Amino acid sequence: MTKYAVILICLFANLSSSCTKQDFDEGAPIDTNPSNSAVFSEADLNILNEVLNLRATPFNYSDYPLPEHYRSEDALLADNTPETNPITDMGATLGRVLFYDPNLSLNNTISCASCHQQSAAFADNNKFSEGLNGQLTRRNSMGLINSRFYENGRFLWDEKAGTLEEQVLLPIQDHKEMGMNLAQLESKLQQLDYYSVLFEKAFGNSQITSARIAKALSQFIRSIISVNSKFDEGLIAAGNPPVEEDIPDFPNFTELENVGMDLFMRGRKGATCSYCHGTGQNVNDEAKNNGLSLNYTDKGKGEITGNPSDNALFKVPSLRNIVYTAPYMHDGRFETLMDVVNHYSDNVQPHPNLNFRLTTDEQIGGKVLKLNLTQYEKEALVAFLNTLSDEEVLTAEKYSDPFK
Ligand code: HEC
Ligand code: HEC
Repeated sequence: MTKYAVILICLFANLSSSCTKQDFDEGAPIDTNPSNSAVFSEADLNILNEVLNLRATPFNYSDYPLPEHYRSEDALLADNTPETNPITDMGATLGRVLFYDPNLSLNNTISCASCHQQSAAFADNNKFSEGLNGQLTRRNSMGLINSRFYENGRFLWDEKAGTLEEQVLLPIQDHKEMGMNLAQLESKLQQLDYYSVLFEKAFGNSQITSARIAKALSQFIRSIISVNSKFDEGLIAAGNPPVEEDIPDFPNFTELENVGMDLFMRGRKGATCSYCHGTGQNVNDEAKNNGLSLNYTDKGKGEITGNPSDNALFKVPSLRNIVYTAPYMHDGRFETLMDVVNHYSDNVQPHPNLNFRLTTDEQIGGKVLKLNLTQYEKEALVAFLNTLSDEEVLTAEKYSDPFK
């Protein structure tokens, strides 16, 4: 999306928070330890490493080298990092510990990673996820890779959360997920020695507040980015072409993968995948309807706004590492990527809010566009989706469980 389109959306958006990045912490403007040269002392490590596996020098989360397609003007515009919460190495290290710590739940059994597993691209492989005492979530867990590049900075399938800082405290307080209240959480973490050290390093003193917990978790999540897929290599080899139609075949792709790329990115046969799912960093804009059924029991964005024209609109998730996050869609209805491709090719339903890109007359709720892909083309699209995989992010120690 061009910067002009972003400006237009901002002008016409009636949700004010979608265009202004909220200042989450009313207190000090930055409230982070700005020094990325901070290290843990011997005494710190003695305390930390009773339960954790941390090294004196934290991993580099703050200054990870990004390829050109992440540094373009569009990509920079899409970065939802607020000025009040830049990523620091110590902040993200604290966030990593919080993310994997079951102490954040009422009965010490559930951590964020219970439902957001690194090996599953930070989603999980269940239709619905198990939270506190085996209770099931209402929707399918979401992958967290490239969260930093969601242009409007809104989170959850219905885009209820206006910022990531706002989002990360919701599962902690959800009765089905982790079941804590924030006051309880703060005093519980104060009892744990390793958090005194970690908060001190991340924020300059050991005070534990829910605003700081939100900041650290958000820093960790924003640091999880994928830049090492076959798709990235192809894009770089093709010279980072700016406009979808100008993209030449990728020299590192097989013929089948290039046929899939042609459909996904150049929109051949009317397959406008990239217009909704983005390319480069795989970003997107607003929630949309992709015609899963005529009647949705879950009203998605409509539940939040109460506006019937928002019914059955859902966030367009990043497709980075999509192979690993099955099953698919907000309700986990599709088990395989072939099921997803069959949906777009043959089964899109004429919902009144169906996005215009899936219609023949380019109107919301218009006549369904049938792609009628051949079996070969369907396999090509699946092969293309496989090129978005990046093993490095699924195994990197800096994103892994730090507990012994
Ligand atoms: C019991 C399972 C469970 C736990 C525990 C859990 N999540 Fe989630 N997470 C989900 C589900 C399910 C969704 C989608 C919910 C929805 O849209 O209604 C989700 C969505 C999210 C999203 C939105 C992603 C996006 O692109 O919009 C973020 C961010 C997130 N979780 C972070 C966290 C963090 C941080 C924690 C720990 C504090 C956590 N989650 C704990 C299941 C869980
Ligand atoms: C009109 C916008 C739009 C277009 C065009 C579009 N999608 Fe989607 N896509 C969405 C939305 C919205 C969702 C989530 C819908 C839901 O869960 O209810 C989604 C979900 C997906 C998912 C599942 C993601 C997950 O994490 O569960 C895959 C895979 C996918 N789309 C692939 C494609 C492919 C391949 C194409 C092209 C054939 C395509 N999409 C075209 C909007 C679009």
